[in-house]
Amino acid sequence: MNKKPAIFAHRGASGTHPENTMAAFEAAVRLGADGIELDVQMTKDGEIVVIHDETVNRTTNGKGAIERMTYAQVAELDAGSWFHPKFAGEKILTLDEFLTWATGNTLQINIELKTNKVPYYGIEQKVLELIDLYNMRGRVIISSFNQDSVGRVIELDPYIAVAGLVWRVPRETVRAAKKLGLTALHTQVSFALSEYGREAIDSGMLLRLYTINDMKEWNRVKKSGVPVEAIITDFPERFS
Ligand code: G3P
Ligand code: CA
Repeated sequence: MNKKPAIFAHRGASGTHPENTMAAFEAAVRLGADGIELDVQMTKDGEIVVIHDETVNRTTNGKGAIERMTYAQVAELDAGSWFHPKFAGEKILTLDEFLTWATGNTLQINIELKTNKVPYYGIEQKVLELIDLYNMRGRVIISSFNQDSVGRVIELDPYIAVAGLVWRVPRETVRAAKKLGLTALHTQVSFALSEYGREAIDSGMLLRLYTINDMKEWNRVKKSGVPVEAIITDFPERFS
């Protein structure tokens, strides 16, 4: 029988809290998650901030692209009210603030470098420095859809845990992952259940699956017998 997968709260407990905020991360701990997935981008003055989109438009009361905003501008925004008025006052965190908070628990941490649309020159080095500053290397997995970014992380730090992010079911995935030296992939269920998913498993790769919110979908994976290292979900309470 396959071992029980770890449960990662996707952008924190983002099904019930504003994504990537302290409210969502604290809820992830309360709800029994084993890990937290979060997204990082970089401001024009080089601060690593925790937000999914390249702009602040969807998840704050402001407007603008992170790469063209200073951290001081980002810090003024309300990142909670869009989700529900009771979360008014939630802030866009810096990665530094997130890691400071994370020293108070033992959860695994999956930092997704959001470099697939904006390359954010130097972000890999900055993130690695912060991980070391907070002594988090044993708890962290860095992932990205951007293969160049993944490659840079490996080059800068061959011993940090890294995972390639896979969108849909590309046939060259395993070949490309091996070329990069990857041993873990974060994929969708469709990939895990495909012949390429099997190929990845047979090559010794770990699979973490995003974003599974529905028990029926998870049951399909369980029934397939595909070994899954972790489930990345908006609703950790459903799986914990
Ligand atoms: O890391 C898994 C998942 O978060 C990737 O997609 O768009 O939710 O960041 P997205
Ligand atoms: Ca993400």
